[in-house]
Amino acid sequence: MARHLRTLRDLSPLELIRVLELARTIKGNPGAYRGKLADKSVALIFAKPSTRTRVSFEVGIRQLGAQALFLPYGGDSGLHLGRGETPHDTAKSLARYVDAIVIRTFGRDEVDELAEHSSVPVVNALTDQDYPCQVLSDVMTMRERFGDDLRGKKLVFVGPGNNVTHSLLQAGPRAGFDVVLACPELLPPSHQVLEVAREEAARAGTRVFLEHDPRRAVKDAAVVYTDTWVSMGQERDAHSLRAKLTAYTVDDELMQTAARDAIFMHGLPARRGEEVMASVIDGPQSVVFDQAENRLHAQKALLLLLMGAEPWS
Ligand code: CP
Ligand code: NVA
Repeated sequence: MARHLRTLRDLSPLELIRVLELARTIKGNPGAYRGKLADKSVALIFAKPSTRTRVSFEVGIRQLGAQALFLPYGGDSGLHLGRGETPHDTAKSLARYVDAIVIRTFGRDEVDELAEHSSVPVVNALTDQDYPCQVLSDVMTMRERFGDDLRGKKLVFVGPGNNVTHSLLQAGPRAGFDVVLACPELLPPSHQVLEVAREEAARAGTRVFLEHDPRRAVKDAAVVYTDTWVSMGQERDAHSLRAKLTAYTVDDELMQTAARDAIFMHGLPARRGEEVMASVIDGPQSVVFDQAENRLHAQKALLLLLMGAEPWS
């Protein structure tokens, strides 16, 4: 049975750390991993735009000696998925040619169905509900800044409950940090994801909170994290989303309530003047391009482990 990354819940705490430690080793000596996936092929299916994810996967896959196949989800030069072929038939066909499938799409159910029927690893490269690849890179970045022991560190997400918040909720208990969400009452995270995260946090000895007041939430934060207010696919609701989020901009004043050595994180793309002021994202506390770089290293590590080229322990 192939291993998949549908959400971060597919990784145990030890496995999450294994991915991040391999990523660090690869970052320190990328040449040692050149050719590790020689003669392999990886399908990259995209139903939504991408700058970082597409390029970091394509380049990373080539650095490992494998071939990356960029496959638009639909349209005249895309897959039949976009005109109704099932994920079942797509998975069973692609798995006869390629050694892993990476997909960015709308519904998590589509990733689940691909994974259920694929004999090769399936990686979720963003759905409306989850974004595990981004958050792997984020935790790697936090460990670079604060050391490997993140216990007692508080990450505060300021913004709408969305795919990034769900993956952060799943990462905290696994990597040992506390997660506080400062979301408007009208834009909460999934109740089910929050409840599971609370249970996982209780078992792990970490904390998970939902707050509504960003100023109270950010007090003493080690990490202030935000994301675009209008996620891909929500363009029609942009006006009402923005109206609900006006009090949630990360500005200098908010950053001053965080810990003195706090960092600012954002997976990008960002809209300056909306979810974050330029002075913050372009300022000294911002680590957004480290996050972007670490996508490359973390995803290479993930593929090597899922594809069996490196051992899990
Ligand atoms: N953070 C991120 O996923 O960026 P892209 O949408 O550019 O891939
Ligand atoms: N929440 C954002 C992340 C973009 C990488 C979105 O889904 O569009």
